[in-house]
Amino acid sequence: MDLEAAFAATTPPAAARFQGFPAYNFVGGHNDPAAVPTAALAESAARVLLAEGHLLATYGLDSGPLGHLGLRRFVAAKLHDQRGIQAAPDDVLITSGSLQALDLVNELMLEPGDTVIVEQLTYGGMLTRLARKGVHVVGIPLDEHGLDTDALEVELEALAARSIRPKYVYIVPTLQNPTATVMPVHRRERLLALSHRFNVPIFEDECYADLVWEGDWPPALRGLAGGEHVIHIGSFSKSLAPALRLGYVSAPWSVLSRLLALKTDAGTPAIEQMIVADYFGQHFETHVRDLKARLAQKCEVLMEALAEQFGAAAEFQRPKGGIFLWVKLPEAVDTKALEAAALAEGVAFNPGIEWATDAAVARSSLRLCYALPDVATIRAGIAKLAEICHRETGVPVRSGNLPRA
Ligand SMILES: Cc1ncc(COP(=O)(O)O)c(C=O)c1O
Repeated sequence: MDLEAAFAATTPPAAARFQGFPAYNFVGGHNDPAAVPTAALAESAARVLLAEGHLLATYGLDSGPLGHLGLRRFVAAKLHDQRGIQAAPDDVLITSGSLQALDLVNELMLEPGDTVIVEQLTYGGMLTRLARKGVHVVGIPLDEHGLDTDALEVELEALAARSIRPKYVYIVPTLQNPTATVMPVHRRERLLALSHRFNVPIFEDECYADLVWEGDWPPALRGLAGGEHVIHIGSFSKSLAPALRLGYVSAPWSVLSRLLALKTDAGTPAIEQMIVADYFGQHFETHVRDLKARLAQKCEVLMEALAEQFGAAAEFQRPKGGIFLWVKLPEAVDTKALEAAALAEGVAFNPGIEWATDAAVARSSLRLCYALPDVATIRAGIAKLAEICHRETGVPVRSGNLPRA
């Protein structure tokens, strides 16, 4: 039987079988295994199952299709206290990771041929989704403060002159992926003003917003005056654990009510929601404080290892938080070409072009995630990467008293 002949024309490329993680794993938004509070989660699990386990008999835990009421209360309070967003629990939709939120919003808003605006460097998972949707993706340059709003204005004017109204501006303003910048408040305000002037919605992804460890922590776009129309998504993957698959949406009811209609899975898995509501209801502040300290330390180790192994050849801006570092190597290095050689020796990283709308701006860059490997593995992995990179490209140069792998 030729099963494939019966597939729909729009079937995505086949996924590869999982072969286990590489030895030096700098890809994927994993968390730090030592920071998963297993004992406290086990206590929460026992507590919530005894107290509310009977609710598992109902679709939606007897609190409706938006998700577990306790978790929605927690998210609404967190959005209010930390992101400046006025949200009642009934204005929050719990999703299976924020990826489901991305998919639902895209399903609601996008059709083939539409135009969307994103940061020139942005989340690879979003770029593959947009490519599959058949939309035109316009990338806007970034600087050390995130999306360049002057460049955005020029682009919006050019599009308006062609009668094109983009469906949204997708933006990761707080710990931008992959550059880890935080957009200052005045730029957020400018972005909102442009959104109103050109009548283009904003789709705000705050997946990493709990992990700011340095500098200002401005309110979310949705939390600022004029931000009431912003579609805002967040996640528990980075603040707690990605395998839980819990995320959320805060948006106007006109959006949320349609997302609900599109969310056809009959509810986000319930035990996870119950446990996280209980655990974070008591320990959110202390957990996130400890997690950020760990991540900041790993980031230091990574930056030290890069300086030691690559010297001036590795350029990067100190992240303001999060779990990844964006690194620029000399033009001689094509990181996509380097990827296979590195992987063959157990070193995995994200080549820049997979995180970019314009290959030219990211050809020699790479993203290194540092939450998963322990500090010894980070050091050994960067030494190995430098050795492979030198062998394949001549970078870093090995001569005189320059460091050796
Ligand atoms: C910017 C951004 N958005 C969304 C996601 C999806 O995260 P999750 O579905 O685990 O919440 C990620 C994952 O790394 C991300 O980097």
